[in-house]
Amino acid sequence: MIAVLDYGSQYCHLVARRIRSLGVYAEIFQNSVTAAELKNKKAEGVILSGGPRSVYESGAPTIDKAIFSLGVPILGVCYGHQLLAHVLGGKVVPSSKEYGKELFTATAKPRLLAGLGKKEQVWMSHGDSVVSVPAGFAVTGKTGACKIAAYANDTKRIYGVQFHPEVQHTIHGMRILENFIKICGCKRDYTIKGLDKKLVAEIRARVGQGAVIMGVSGGVDSLVASALIKKATPNIHCVFVDHGIIRKGEAEYVRKLYEQLGFKQYYYADASQVFYTRLKGVTDPEEKRRVIGRTFVEVFEAKVKELKAKHGQIKFLGQGTIYPDRIESAKASKAADIIKTHHNVGGLPEKMKLKLVEPLRDLYKDEVRQLGMMIGLPKDALMRHPFPGPGLAVRIVGEITAERIGIVQEADLIFTEELKRSGQYDKIWQAFAALLPVKAVGVMGDSRSYGYIIALRAVTSLDGMTADWAKIPPEVLERTASRIVKQVRGVTRVVYDITQKPPATIEYE
Ligand code: XMP
Repeated sequence: MIAVLDYGSQYCHLVARRIRSLGVYAEIFQNSVTAAELKNKKAEGVILSGGPRSVYESGAPTIDKAIFSLGVPILGVCYGHQLLAHVLGGKVVPSSKEYGKELFTATAKPRLLAGLGKKEQVWMSHGDSVVSVPAGFAVTGKTGACKIAAYANDTKRIYGVQFHPEVQHTIHGMRILENFIKICGCKRDYTIKGLDKKLVAEIRARVGQGAVIMGVSGGVDSLVASALIKKATPNIHCVFVDHGIIRKGEAEYVRKLYEQLGFKQYYYADASQVFYTRLKGVTDPEEKRRVIGRTFVEVFEAKVKELKAKHGQIKFLGQGTIYPDRIESAKASKAADIIKTHHNVGGLPEKMKLKLVEPLRDLYKDEVRQLGMMIGLPKDALMRHPFPGPGLAVRIVGEITAERIGIVQEADLIFTEELKRSGQYDKIWQAFAALLPVKAVGVMGDSRSYGYIIALRAVTSLDGMTADWAKIPPEVLERTASRIVKQVRGVTRVVYDITQKPPATIEYE
């Protein structure tokens, strides 16, 4: 197992994903983790992620120095590279910034850089630089502006790289991570083959004869989780809460899907009117999320009460929580600057005194999809794009009205149809239409029209933490735009969003 210490980089999960894809289990730890905890977990190597701070600032995150005595290889990336240099006796200072692709020149060949060329394209994002390495360390590479872009101590097996090997723009980054795994001596035998049986057995052991209730959304995570739970016990009750701000035809789609999969206890709770009433006049994005989160819990609780009255005791709550959800909410509960309040984790269990069943808690999304394939779930359902808990509410900027919901639903359906028809849908992480609450002038036939602007957003991503805009063929965009303006009343313009995350987020609110 490789431990990835989280110093706050957007790419922290990507590092762990990459290591897992190389066949070695990787887990994320908070940077305050102690050497004893890592030893306990049998970590065979440690990677320090990047992060936004400066190592010389007071209060900047650091590392338990006892980790150096564990005798396991250590790799510092970006902030991690600077931190290792800083704590081991080197020097880090503010420097000229590098952001994006840079040319790296190897000046030595430590084991970490085996198999790489003298010149390599790498991806940089930093404003501080290491200007002297600790005693016993050798400088192993540089870029134009950064004299110490990599260093190594092959005897101690400690390495630093200023660039990001996990990012695909570092062309041979995977080779570096592979070298690191070799240095650690890890066996490359991590696979999710057979994991379904193990998870089902674990669920069975946990719930026994007890009833499990589960909120399902039609999304991949709750689908795979509920299907696993159903394999372990017939005593699963699925509740679909319709908050009315969902995709067109969604409630029917989910009902049919669960029916087809043989779920006998499936309940539909139409709460759209309650949600609409409470959301009336609410324009602040965080307030919208709070209202939706609170109301969702209320509706769900009421349903549980009703089911308990009918079926007796319900002890367990099934959830489709996946690994990044868990790590991010643990972080968010500590961090002062929450970017957005996601409501898919937490909240429900404490209040309801139900015991959690979260079979996917250690898996990444693509692993969840693979697992779903293994247990025979329909590919179409598994390849669906993620859909946020607050639904279209975060895609309608400003106030939510019935008219706006209708417009977004229609536009979104057209975009999805066109992406599927052109074979683009499966190449994209997430695509949707959003409504901007400003009106623009158009001309329809011979008369002036005046209506909303629809923004199309489509991104490629590995985990949703970072994202790039999808390079969809222009003819697909053109067809989508033309259909939306013609077929959706109240829209005069369609724009395509080409912002990356960061600095933008995927959703609009
Ligand atoms: P952002 O907009 O933060 O989205 O870049 C990253 C991913 O998370 C999804 N998302 C949410 N999912 N509840 C959810 O269950 C939420 O409140 C929420 N907000 C964003 C988003 O769709 C994307 O996949």
